[in-house]
Amino acid sequence: MSSSTVSRNSLEADQQWLLRSSSPENDLDRDERPSKPRRHIVAVLCLVLMFTVAGYVTSSVLLNNRLEHPFRIPKLPHEEPCDFAPSRPSWNSMPRHRRHAFISAVQRLASKPSRLGLSNTSMYDDFVYVHTKVVWQVHHHAISLPFHRYFVHIFEQALQNDGGYDGLMPYWDWTQDSSDPLASIVWDPWAGFGSAGNGCISDGVFARVGKFANYTENGYEPHCVTRNCLAHADAVDESDGVMHSKHWTPAIVKAIIDDSTTYRDFRQRLEEGPHKHLHAYGIGGDMASASSPNGQFIPQPKHTLSRIP
Ligand SMILES: *[C@@H]1O[C@H](CO)[C@@H](O)[C@H](O)[C@H]1NC(C)=O
Ligand SMILES: *[C@@H]1O[C@H](CO)[C@@H](O)[C@H](O)[C@H]1NC(C)=O
Repeated sequence: MSSSTVSRNSLEADQQWLLRSSSPENDLDRDERPSKPRRHIVAVLCLVLMFTVAGYVTSSVLLNNRLEHPFRIPKLPHEEPCDFAPSRPSWNSMPRHRRHAFISAVQRLASKPSRLGLSNTSMYDDFVYVHTKVVWQVHHHAISLPFHRYFVHIFEQALQNDGGYDGLMPYWDWTQDSSDPLASIVWDPWAGFGSAGNGCISDGVFARVGKFANYTENGYEPHCVTRNCLAHADAVDESDGVMHSKHWTPAIVKAIIDDSTTYRDFRQRLEEGPHKHLHAYGIGGDMASASSPNGQFIPQPKHTLSRIP
């Protein structure tokens, strides 16, 4: 151990240091600490080495990925295989007690206060309200299908969590009923949602309430739920069919699926075709407006859209 490396100026500091570490090994360490310039060189060499290794690893990973998967989409953190895809029931083939369970859940939502904090209206009305507010953003745009899919998902959750419904959202396969739309079970006062008719629905549980619907596209305007199915049944144009049903046959839907080459094409043909003809020309009334969810305590066109994968 040589004391010549310890300068007089740093003697006091070194004494402190010695007090803290009095073992011979520590003394040795102190004496063999590299001098300042040597430490800089070591540090620089370490950094160079680190950058070289990091650069090599990064570039080889990137290059390999580029070569093997030129258009690979980054994997999302939550991307997992979909092992369980629940299957929503078709209204036409649901057992009677399941239909009643669904209708009861809708009534329960209609009797609970608005979760959005709106006065005089219900949790059911929240869905109508939201739809009236976003209608121009969520129709005739790419977002149309994903939005409605999500919208129905939230509604389904409300039915389950707040309506006491222990099932999945049913759908109405309108293609099945396109050959005789007025005879569909969805208009049945017991097994469905009340008359097809013209004007206020006249039977079924939702007719009994009177002014059941609380919103129109103009805001809070309590009114009876209306449909105008007969308007397009009495004055049948051969090319459209009863309730414009020639625009929503199984063949039409199959053609849209088979012939569309892009999402845009598919979405436009579906929205301007079966969707529009059912909403506006087929059923009409509330269903023809921005407050269409008023008519959609029934499994209606939007719910069916939500089945599209
Ligand atoms: C409309 O509001 C009334 C009063 O709050 C409520 O009884 C009724 O169920 C509501 N209608 C719907 C469709 O929620
Ligand atoms: C709620 O209903 C009352 C009584 O019908 C009415 O005076 C009030 O304007 C309604 N509130 C809203 C926000 O429309």
